[in-house]
Amino acid sequence: MYQRIVGALQDDIASGRLHQGQSLPTHRALAKALGIDLTTVTRAYAEAQRQGLTEATVGRGTFVKARQQPGPRGPAAPGIDLSMNLPPQPAEADLDGRLAQTLAAVRAESGLAAYLTYQQPGGTAAERQAAAEWMQRLVPGLTPDRLVLAPGTQAALYCILLAHIAPGDTVITERLTYPGFKAAAAAAGVRLIGIDMDEEGIAPAGLDRAARAGAAKAVYLMPTLHNPTTATMSAERRARIAEIISKRGLMLIEDDPYSFLAPGPPPISALVPERAYLAASLSKCLAPGFRTSLVAVPDSAAAVRIASLFRATLQMPAPLMAAVATRWLRDGTANAVVEAVRAEAAARQVLAREVLGRHPYAGHPNGHHIWLPLPASWPAERFAAHLHGKGLAVVTGEAFATDATPPNAIRLALGAARGRAQLSKALEILSDALSVRAPDDNVV
Ligand SMILES: Cc1ncc(COP(=O)(O)O)c(C=O)c1O
Repeated sequence: MYQRIVGALQDDIASGRLHQGQSLPTHRALAKALGIDLTTVTRAYAEAQRQGLTEATVGRGTFVKARQQPGPRGPAAPGIDLSMNLPPQPAEADLDGRLAQTLAAVRAESGLAAYLTYQQPGGTAAERQAAAEWMQRLVPGLTPDRLVLAPGTQAALYCILLAHIAPGDTVITERLTYPGFKAAAAAAGVRLIGIDMDEEGIAPAGLDRAARAGAAKAVYLMPTLHNPTTATMSAERRARIAEIISKRGLMLIEDDPYSFLAPGPPPISALVPERAYLAASLSKCLAPGFRTSLVAVPDSAAAVRIASLFRATLQMPAPLMAAVATRWLRDGTANAVVEAVRAEAAARQVLAREVLGRHPYAGHPNGHHIWLPLPASWPAERFAAHLHGKGLAVVTGEAFATDATPPNAIRLALGAARGRAQLSKALEILSDALSVRAPDDNVV
């Protein structure tokens, strides 16, 4: 009998019927509801906890700990999934029409099948030239030998770690960091030390202290529109961080998918180019399906090394997509799409402010997401489970945490809504949830 209860918990987590953070009935309530002995329930709960399905907190009860694993067709999605940080696809961007047009042009020029082959792992010479010209707005004077075209920033981050950081070594990050970097570090066996942040991002004193202690060879940062807090560093802060990086002999891994959308001060990499990688993904300003990121590297030897690690892992960007993307960089299409994406992002931020009113949260006028601290009465996992029950998926602070004390907050990806009407609905669900108290524990 106790095993059947554990089996039922497994099934309900797998099907999405039970969500992470959801409270389970007390032992006594479940025994009564099922008409069984209390000790059987106690045994079932102990086994579920042993298997990592649930966790129990003295005085608060038992909660679902495990998450539903995505199946072959993805998770049983709630109606509105604002968990992935996607750019919107506004009609003005005309992505469909522009893709069709560019494919026709490529076809007329060389035939499409010419791209169904292997290519240089770091991009062709022509692609690197186009990418270097586009990147010069961030790193003036960048030459193609100091740039690789990566199959996404994710692949670049992983290969940069493989190239420079031995398993067991440490990289410094902001205390909250991009989950993709956490995943790459975990896969490469690299440990992370998170440093305290303020409203501009990483605190210089904390960075200097960690670097001085000799704990790490490299630092990974998102100075523009930090994911998830949306913080952007001033030029003064960037100069201070660059100074510390030089003085302490650190390598910089700068992740900047956002500054084409939200131009800010020049990247830190422009101040210390000889010790910096700067990954500028096209995922957030054009579309993630391009799987193309423009990566400035410290020198031409680093370009060769990273490209050879692409060959060892993800090989190369899909040639046809890289060809379309770099053509867009050259012919002005990318600028037009970025402009449309930026306008839509701005409109969505206005909408969020209208619906959420005075509820405090952090956002950037052109950003794709907002970061919303929660009252103590609403622990983030339970709040997310509550939203999930209302048909809305968000991400909690835990996904970004580098230690065991995640902030009680959620990230809402405004760009992921199919349109503004869907976004309004999601924001109404969120606003309603914020206005109610957390339901009592142990509701059967
Ligand atoms: C900071 C940051 N870096 C990189 C990425 C993903 O880049 P790519 O799609 O090129 O792997 C994201 C996407 O959410 C991001 O927020």
